[in-house]
Amino acid sequence: MEKVLVTRRISDNAIKLINDAGFDVTVYTESKDLSQQQLIEMCKGHCALLSVGPNQLDANFFKSCPQIGAIALMSVGYDKVDIAAANKFGVPISNTPEVLNEATADIAFLLMLSVARKAFYMHKTIERGEWTFFDPLKNLGQEIYGKTLGVFGLGRIGFEMAKKARYAYGMNIIYHNRSRNNNAEEKLQAKYVSFDELLEKSDVLSVHANLSGETKGIFDKSAFEKMKSNAIFINAARGAIHNEIDLIDALQNKIIWGAGLDVTNPEPMKKDNPLLQMENVCVLPHIGSATEETREKMAVMAAENLVAALSGKQMPQIIDPSVYSKP
Ligand code: DGY
Repeated sequence: MEKVLVTRRISDNAIKLINDAGFDVTVYTESKDLSQQQLIEMCKGHCALLSVGPNQLDANFFKSCPQIGAIALMSVGYDKVDIAAANKFGVPISNTPEVLNEATADIAFLLMLSVARKAFYMHKTIERGEWTFFDPLKNLGQEIYGKTLGVFGLGRIGFEMAKKARYAYGMNIIYHNRSRNNNAEEKLQAKYVSFDELLEKSDVLSVHANLSGETKGIFDKSAFEKMKSNAIFINAARGAIHNEIDLIDALQNKIIWGAGLDVTNPEPMKKDNPLLQMENVCVLPHIGSATEETREKMAVMAAENLVAALSGKQMPQIIDPSVYSKP
C-alpha cells in the first residue's frame, strides 16, 4: 500500500479519509518541528504529504523528494511554500481557506478588546496580589466604540474582523489592499485608503494580509511613527509582517499605545520578550484557527484535497491551478 506522511497528530476523521482511499498513513508525533533535512528523510517511501506546521517547502525540498506527488497544507497561509518551484516539479499544493475565517477574526477581535482594556496585564496584577484597593484613576483602558478600524489586507479574514467591528462596535472601517474590496465597501461602508492614510487614521490597525515580499517587515519604525499615539496594533496574520524590535521600541517610547499579537517574529516567542511585561500588550501563541470545530474542518479539508490528488483529480482548494496545465 502506498503511504502518506502527515507531519502532526490531526483529527481521526481526516486520517480515516486517507485510509479509506486506500493509503497507509505515517503520522509524525513528536512535539518538535522537523528540520527540512528530517522532513526529506521522513518523506522517503511516501507518495504524498499532508503538511502541518512551519515546514519549508522550497526548490531543495521538491528536488529532494521527487516521489511526493501532491501536498495538502493544513493552513490557509502558504508563505513557507515556493509555489513556482512546486509548479516546476509538477506538484499540486492545496490550502484550507474559508473554514478558519471566523475563528481567526475572533482572535483579532479578542486581542483588540483585551489590549484596549489591558486584560492580560490586569489578570497578572491579581496573581501578584496587587488588587487591594479601588482607585478610580488606575487600570484605565480605552473605549473602542465608534473609533476607526484600519484593516491591512481586507480579504476573507479581514472582512470578518471588519464586520464584527462595524456591527458590534459601530466602528468606521478603512482598509488598504492590493485591490479594492467592493463587497466590504458596500456592506460595511469600508473606505479604501493609501497605506500612509491607513497608518495616520487608524485607532486600531489590524493586519490580515498574506506574508509576501511586499508585506514582509512593512510595519517598521517608519510605519509606527506615522501612527496615532493612541493606536492599537493587531497582528493575527504572520509575525514577519511587523518588525518586532521596532514594535517594542514604538511601545516603549509611547509612539503607539498598545499591541495585540497572535503571531510573533520569531515564533515561538521567547519567554523573556519585553512585550510580555507590557501593560498594553497581549500576546497569544498563534491560535487564530485553534477551535475544535475549525481544526476539524481544516484537517478534513486537507485530507479531502490529498485524496482528490491521489485519485487523479484536481485538488478542490488548489492554490495555483496552472500546475495542471503544465505539459
Ligand atoms: C493558517 O492557517 O495559515 C494559520 O495561520 C495557521 O498556520
